[in-house]
Amino acid sequence: MNRSQPQLQWLFLKLFLVSLFFHFHTSYGDVGTAAQYSSPYFPTACYGSDASNFPSGNFFAAAGDGIWDNGAACGRQYFVRCINDSTPDACNQNQTILITIVDYMGQPPFAHSTYNTTMVLSNTAFETIANSSTASSYINIEFER
Ligand SMILES: *[C@@H]1O[C@H](CO)[C@@H](O)[C@H](O)[C@H]1NC(C)=O
Ligand SMILES: *[C@@H]1O[C@H](CO)[C@@H](O)[C@H](O)[C@H]1NC(C)=O
Ligand SMILES: *[C@@H]1O[C@H](CO)[C@@H](O)[C@H](O)[C@H]1NC(C)=O
Ligand SMILES: *[C@@H]1O[C@H](CO)[C@@H](O)[C@H](O)[C@H]1NC(C)=O
Repeated sequence: MNRSQPQLQWLFLKLFLVSLFFHFHTSYGDVGTAAQYSSPYFPTACYGSDASNFPSGNFFAAAGDGIWDNGAACGRQYFVRCINDSTPDACNQNQTILITIVDYMGQPPFAHSTYNTTMVLSNTAFETIANSSTASSYINIEFER
């Protein structure tokens, strides 16, 4: 009887779960674009001046028309990953972040960004998945709820 077998099985189970995670979170998302915006982040279309619904760690975003869903997007969470950019190597390819929608990008000329992006990320979120000193104004992303 091999006593290390249960440990091996546990290891394979963990490997299986990890590969499942990457399978679902790197291959099955939608493709879109993201820009970034800076403070002041208030007031928001979702919560006014109330900061209590903002996620700790400042991983949040304003929704573009494509995902705003008439305000139902407020509080929704998305896994977001930078796919590529017109600037080579601007993406931090290995970073997937979980962001919360707290605001609406708005309509021009009051939009947070002049670009019609899927979402506009907080500076903190954008800087985590892309090199903000070299990246374009908007990056190509993969996102999934
Ligand atoms: C980004 O990747 C997509 C899919 O592979 C490709 O169609 C697109 O041309 C790429 N864009 C840039 C700027 O490299
Ligand atoms: C990203 O992950 C791959 C595979 O795990 C690794 O080879 C590569 O060095 C990582 N790149 C960065 C920038 O961390
Ligand atoms: C961006 O959105 C505005 C308003 O909906 C539209 O007029 C404009 O053509 C769009 N620009 C691009 C590049 O899609
Ligand atoms: C961003 O790109 C610049 C220019 O290539 C480089 O000097 C810097 O180290 C990069 N920053 C990160 C966090 O990779």
